Amino acid sequence: MKTTAAPFNWIKHKPKYANVLNAQWQVVSTNILNMRYPLLLLLYFSSTSILFAQGEKFAASIQKGAVIYKKNCVVCHSKKGTGKGKRIPPLAQSDFLIDNRIASIKAIKFGLEGKIMVNGIDYDKSMKAVDLSNKEIADVLNYVLNTWGNQSDKMVTEKEVKAIHND
Ligand code: HEC
Repeated sequence: MKTTAAPFNWIKHKPKYANVLNAQWQVVSTNILNMRYPLLLLLYFSSTSILFAQGEKFAASIQKGAVIYKKNCVVCHSKKGTGKGKRIPPLAQSDFLIDNRIASIKAIKFGLEGKIMVNGIDYDKSMKAVDLSNKEIADVLNYVLNTWGNQSDKMVTEKEVKAIHND
């Protein structure tokens, strides 16, 4: 009697195993397909609503910042953020403001004194700390960072301002 060696035995039975595997894969894949679209939709709506909520918060902060600016900064930095000649530096298109986010937060929170250069002009004046909450500082910075042609996509948050200390 002719016997078949083990590997050949397996090959002989392969179609049977393949069918079992195939059937199992079909169960798995239909499950995935059934789940896929609801999951994708859920992902899509949750991410857009998060982005939308962030956009709303940013816009609201800028709006509040405009009011805070008029009350606390406009006397010196002027309505259009142009400052006042060699006495007060500008905020509109200010390279200092745009490039030194932390120093700008510090200027409002703790005051700023001594030599700085803004758009190539030296200033050696002083600005007293402005009496505002961390949230108000974030709002006014979001306003000045996104007005008069300034643009900053990264929103300043209350948490960020709170974490900055005078050192
Ligand atoms: C009493 C006048 C005065 C007020 C009010 C004032 N600042 Fe200033 N600010 C100055 C002066 C003067 C300097 C420059 C200080 C220096 O020479 O070191 C300055 C510098 C700055 C700078 C850094 C330099 C630049 O121009 O980018 C920022 C940012 C700034 N102020 C933002 C504000 C904001 C925001 C407010 C309101 C919350 C405000 N300041 C209120 C007078 C003022």
